[in-house]
Amino acid sequence: MCGIVGIVSDKNCCDYIFDGLRLVQYRGYDSVGICQKDGMQLKIDKAKGTIEKLVQKVEPLQDTKVAIGHTRWATHGSVCERNAHPIEGKNREWVVVHNGIIENYQTLMCEMQKEGEVFKTQTDTEIIANLLSFNNYQNPIENLIWAVRKLQGSYAICAVKKEQENCIYAAKYKSPLYAFCNQDIAMLASDPICFPEGDYYKLEDGELCEVKKGEIKFFNMHGEQIQKQQLKYQKIRVMADKGSYQHYMLKEIYETPEALERLIKNFVNFDFKKLAKYKFKKVKLIGCGTAYHSCLMGARYFIKYLHVDAEAIFASEFRYDDYVINPQTLCIFVSQSGETADTIAALEKAKRKRAKIISMTNVPYSTIASLSDVVLPISAGVEIAVASTKAYSCQVAGLYLLVMALKGEKHFNRAIKQVQEVILASKNFFVNMSAFAEDISQKEKVLFIGKGCDYITALEAALKLKETTYINCSALASGELKHGTLSLIENKTPLIVISTNKKVHDKVMNSALEAKSRGAKLYLISFKPPKICELENFDFCLSLPKVCQPLLCILAIIPLQLLSYNVALLRGLDPDKPRNLAKSVTVE
Ligand code: F6R
Repeated sequence: MCGIVGIVSDKNCCDYIFDGLRLVQYRGYDSVGICQKDGMQLKIDKAKGTIEKLVQKVEPLQDTKVAIGHTRWATHGSVCERNAHPIEGKNREWVVVHNGIIENYQTLMCEMQKEGEVFKTQTDTEIIANLLSFNNYQNPIENLIWAVRKLQGSYAICAVKKEQENCIYAAKYKSPLYAFCNQDIAMLASDPICFPEGDYYKLEDGELCEVKKGEIKFFNMHGEQIQKQQLKYQKIRVMADKGSYQHYMLKEIYETPEALERLIKNFVNFDFKKLAKYKFKKVKLIGCGTAYHSCLMGARYFIKYLHVDAEAIFASEFRYDDYVINPQTLCIFVSQSGETADTIAALEKAKRKRAKIISMTNVPYSTIASLSDVVLPISAGVEIAVASTKAYSCQVAGLYLLVMALKGEKHFNRAIKQVQEVILASKNFFVNMSAFAEDISQKEKVLFIGKGCDYITALEAALKLKETTYINCSALASGELKHGTLSLIENKTPLIVISTNKKVHDKVMNSALEAKSRGAKLYLISFKPPKICELENFDFCLSLPKVCQPLLCILAIIPLQLLSYNVALLRGLDPDKPRNLAKSVTVE
């Protein structure tokens, strides 16, 4: 989703902005822009496409002292230079960049149009720029407060005012925004990875700030100056680097074993006694997309090993639907980025109902982490490819370790050993999927089946394949095939069968063969090599290395992630940046 960077500095403003934009590009974007300010002169440059296109285009002004930059992921209005940020208000008095969605922008726009205001873009952001120019208070912070009071929705805003020297004004509500200041520069950004080494500030909802060189002043919505604590700098600055890999997605899949090793280290040092005081009767695991799939896996672990009533829920459903949540409910929020808007809103709802809140996230300084009672970091390392891979494996392993820790010390040690088994097995298990991928790349629909945990792996594998290759994929609990979806089977329709549980292996095979008799082409990922008599039924068979049954799902997803990667390449697509998607979904 959109990324914001702003800087006040005597030199190199544009370079800081470009470096910052490169660091927030992981969030996903389709156009990009910068506004430089030199005295009263404001210069705006925009490009559709990549940051490098913008870099080629921009001529720094003679003495730029302030700049704001933006990567846009279109929500309102098509992808074009006109709709890219920064967006100017009337007479270019104010220029703004914005992350979030202004839900009442049409109402506000109609009101302003009646007053004669002209709108030049299709964005919701232009309303902010025009509101700022509309009511020219002496004090720019008062102006900003007046404008944001009119907005409904979410926003992180950075704004520059033509007539104000070397200053950026910012406001935050439900979209992340951070600030940094040393003697030489002051910065704002949607992720602190953009800042140089040093402590930084996190703006909270309803806070505003005025950023000048060497000085940041924070305000509340009453215009009163407030003092804020700095957050300790953690070594979070990780340059986007593919190493020797062609794509981040491949690199990140290969990083799964080391990510799991880090997860174990963190969990061993984690003080689980903090959780002992939680007396919960029910568990809700909440997330979106891939994170929701790890919640499904986690719910199974809670039920199987702790015999607790546990349920996985989409965050986007949880926030609007009715669920019985009370102080005896443990709510676990799973989110790689820690900034997913639906998950944050769901968390806030659970908090209002006084549930106990644990979050499991890859970004310890994220909004979700800061709102939780207890944070379990998954320590997967920075994930840049839009499709989540190593983070999923760490979420599943992390939920397993959490359940084992809640069950008792002895089991926890055993669980650590089990994850270590998975690490060792996965180190020797990065199979070549090219022949299988070649076959799948020709298809326009693919079905996945599995039972129990394998059904969840099927859901995740189908999401990954459709996300990176645009092939229409569905996943089914194997027993459900005959209740409708079997009608999709035609001659050579690919059916990928996942079977890691010997107790139900034969049942899954029966469903697969029912599809085979109707023309399906079968591919098998299984805990054991197929019997000779089974072999002829499958066009591809992969048997997984032996590890403890509940964690076989971590091994099963790896070849399927690699399949998605390879099929994307064969279809001439960029697996790191699937169309229409963003890594960090910070709007509803
Ligand atoms: C799919 C994918 C998404 C995310 C989802 C939640 O590969 O990455 O489905 O899992 O958008 O994101 P987080 O985990 O950041 O809350």
